[in-house]
Amino acid sequence: MTAIAVLGSTNMDLVAYVARAPGRGETVTGREFRTVPGGKGANQALAAARAGGDVVMIGAVGTDEFGSALRANLDHAGVDTELLHTVAGPSGTAHIVVDDEGSNAIVVIPGANGTMTSLAPGDRAAVTRADLLLLQLELPLATVTEAARAARARGVRTILTPSPVQPLPSELLDAVDLLVPNEHEAARLTGKVEPHAAAQLLLRQVPEVVITLGERGCLHAARGTEPVLFPAPEVTAVDTTGAGDTFVGALAVALGEGRAAPEAVAWASKAAALCVGRHGASTSMPYREEIDAS
Ligand code: RIB
Repeated sequence: MTAIAVLGSTNMDLVAYVARAPGRGETVTGREFRTVPGGKGANQALAAARAGGDVVMIGAVGTDEFGSALRANLDHAGVDTELLHTVAGPSGTAHIVVDDEGSNAIVVIPGANGTMTSLAPGDRAAVTRADLLLLQLELPLATVTEAARAARARGVRTILTPSPVQPLPSELLDAVDLLVPNEHEAARLTGKVEPHAAAQLLLRQVPEVVITLGERGCLHAARGTEPVLFPAPEVTAVDTTGAGDTFVGALAVALGEGRAAPEAVAWASKAAALCVGRHGASTSMPYREEIDAS
């Protein structure tokens, strides 16, 4: 089994389903409210575990009710939560509006995630004994950078989801093996809206990139090879929340099993498509057998 360490956020997602998201100053009546365990880190951990990885989650939850529910959700999925620290105060929350096209807008309040200002010795040990390290940007940037560099020093492959998007220091990018932005994040990082152009610029900083393009699929680009566009499997989008995280979790498992990039990307695309067809983040992530059968 591929040993995957995930350093990242754990949030309770407070999701409002509406026909159309409100504009500035507007009040709309929604259809439904759900409370769903999420957080980009926890989502990637859960997706990787369901896809067949041996996963340890490094992060923090608060002492509120959400904290115990978030931990239980990961435990239930078979994720090792020994390094999911409990800290005094509230857990992270994400306030999400999902419209009738399945598109979302998210505000994250970091809560306990914001207390992860450095790695504890046990966190660092878990990072360096993994086969792969998954990172996102919902923990303090200095901690993400510290983990990436510790992984690089030990030859652990790192995959970074640059979300929420922000300028990335070279100390971090120098330690990243694979960058997985969505098209908006890629455009923000490079100033190029066209994905091939964005990928070319990103390849100056990291050796391999996958830009996810929603219903148009994803673009894989690596130094020294031709970029390849992978179409997305046809699906009726119900809720896209967590689709990118599902993609990364499944991709990590496939790469860790030694599958070549095209096969791994195609498999991860199937996992993301299954996620998009269901409600919520962690609630929608497929199991390995479902991905294989789709
Ligand atoms: O990527 C989706 C996730 O982003 C949600 O689960 C939410 O918690 C935010 O972190």
